[in-house]
Formats: sequence, C-alpha cells, structure tokens
Amino acid sequence: MSAPISSSSDVIDFVVHRGNGVTGLVQIGVEGVPDRYIQPREERLDPSKLETQESIPIIDFSNWADPKVAESICDAASKWGFFQIVNHGVPLEVLEDLKNAARRFFELPSEERKKYLKENSPSETVRLCTSFSPQAEEVLEWKDYLTLLWVSESEASAFWPPACRDQAIEYMKKAEVLIRRLLEVLLKRLHTKEIDRTKEYMLMGELRLSLNYYPRCPSPELTAGVGRHSDISTITVLLQDETGGLYVRGAKEDTWIPVPPVKGALVVNIGDVLQIMSNDLYKSIEHRAIANRSRNRVSIPIFVNPGPDAIIGPLPEVLESGEKPMYKHVTFEDYFKHFFSKGHDGKNAIEFARI
Ligand code: OGA
Ligand code: NI
Repeated sequence: MSAPISSSSDVIDFVVHRGNGVTGLVQIGVEGVPDRYIQPREERLDPSKLETQESIPIIDFSNWADPKVAESICDAASKWGFFQIVNHGVPLEVLEDLKNAARRFFELPSEERKKYLKENSPSETVRLCTSFSPQAEEVLEWKDYLTLLWVSESEASAFWPPACRDQAIEYMKKAEVLIRRLLEVLLKRLHTKEIDRTKEYMLMGELRLSLNYYPRCPSPELTAGVGRHSDISTITVLLQDETGGLYVRGAKEDTWIPVPPVKGALVVNIGDVLQIMSNDLYKSIEHRAIANRSRNRVSIPIFVNPGPDAIIGPLPEVLESGEKPMYKHVTFEDYFKHFFSKGHDGKNAIEFARI
C-alpha cells in the first residue's frame, strides 16, 4: 500500500494528481475529513435552515401529451425549477441496472478506474474526474464522477468502461425519447411551434451522462458533495439512489428543501440555458448535495446541453410580445468555459450572459 497521507499536499497528490479520487481515499480507510475538504462555515448546510414542510411536485408523465400534464410541468418549471416525474417510460429495471453499474465502476480498484482519467482515457467521450474543478477550487468537493458523452451507440460500445457500458447505453436510448418529450412540452409554453433540426441542436445538441459517486464520509456536515450551484444545461434529468442528500433552495430566504428519493422517479430541473432562452419564465434553481456518513451515494444526471457551437439567448418567439430581453447572446462553449473556470458559485454563472 502507498505511504501514509499526512499533509494537505499529499492529499491533493493522491486524490487529484495520481487520480485515486476521493473514492481512493475512502478505499484506503481515511478516518477523518482532510482539511482540504472542510468547507467554511457559511458553505455548510445548516440543519436549522431545512424546509421539510415543502416539497417539489411529483408529476405523473404517462399522459405527457395531455394539456393538463403539460400545464403542471410548465407551472413546476416556472415556480420551482425542479420536479420529479413518475411513469416516464424508462423501465424500473433500466434504472436499477444503471445504479448498480455505477457502483460496480466505482468499486473497481483504483488502478482500473485510472484507465479513464483524462491522460489515459481512450476517447474524449469518457473521463473520470474528482470534485468539480480541482485546479480552481480552494476546498474540494466530496465526489468523483465519470462523465460519458453520448455521441452514438457504436462510440459508446467501443470506449465506455465495460463495468457500466451496456447499462448506460440502454438508459441513454430510453432517456433520449423522454428528453424530447419534456422539451416539446416546455417549449410549447414558449410559443415554439416545432423543434426542428436547428432548435434541436440548440436545445439538446449534447447529451452528457454523469455517474456521480459520493463515497461515505466520516463528517459529511463539514463538507460539500456538490456545492451550491445551478446547472448550466437546458434541462437536467437526474436519477438518485435511495440514500438521499439532494437539496433545492426554497422560496424563503436561505432555506433548503430536501428532494426525497422516490422509487422509479426521475428528478428534472431547469438549467441556466433554458432560463435564458425563456427570458426568465423558467427558473434554474440553486441546489446542492451532501455525502452520507454510512452509505456510498450514487446519483446519475443527464445534462441536456446545447451543441458547443450553439448561440444561446432569449428566443425570438418569447420576445415577440414586446418583452425586454434580460440576456445577450453568447456561445454555449464560452458559457461552459466560464462555468468551469471557477469553483461552484451559487447562481452567479448566469451573470455571464445578463444584459
Ligand atoms: C449535479 C448535481 C445532484 C445530486 O451533478 O449537477 O446537482 O443529487 N447533482 O447528486
Ligand atoms: Ni446540479
């Protein structure tokens, strides 16, 4: 086994530079939270700020073309920015298999996982990362993730890790159908008549699956699994396991609403891009996640992003009625780079596009 890890630079070296991740740290039996993971007090989730009386809506999506269902989806997207859907068409077995596959990948020995680090990965479509943006962060997040870019089934079959490949492909094929339906429903309220090829590239030109792994943490209350942020996506569709740990910012000042795991459900949230396109009709709400003391937590988002060359801004059909645009036009690539150039920073990323 490797030499003991005692200093902060040893931790960074082991976790980031040598690519063992925080999962590797837990695998070698770390007993306390290293200093580099301890959040300043104001970034820790204060239990007295939890809002357990409120919850985000749970919507039955089986009759998705029904105007009443569409209404609840669009209302939830503008009021909460977050909702859960059930009867969404992705079979329960596909969801369960995918969560197990994610666990299987992160339970591999470090040496096996490391084959997918940026410097070793056989393809740009696969990358194992730790924290969020370790070069830019003062305090690291208690999370590793494997990001999988969905280009085509053949590309995925060739390069995605055997431990999770088949399950991830199966999920993406099913989820793609659901994503189109969700976007169709959401865009109708914005007076978009049809999602043609150009719109499709703008809305879902890049589908990125992320297997998030939050290994059990000796003192989760001192750390962030994912710090406060909003997603930069158009929408995000997230599968979480039964551990819990996801919180969404509440309407009342500085409160946080738990998003309880619901068997078979998917969490959907609006990202900055759709907030921008809708000129603030839909809200991209801040959220955060914390690790668990006794369980390794898995969550699996699909970030539905514009294509890299897409130019995003308020949609012409939204402004048709004379509404004043709140955002300028920027390329998604620039927005993406801006987001990753800093640590998680609440809702601030969207300022990049604000007029
Ligand atoms: C994210 C995220 C929440 C979770 O990956 O952007 O917000 O529950 N994850 O893991
Ligand atoms: Ni998020």
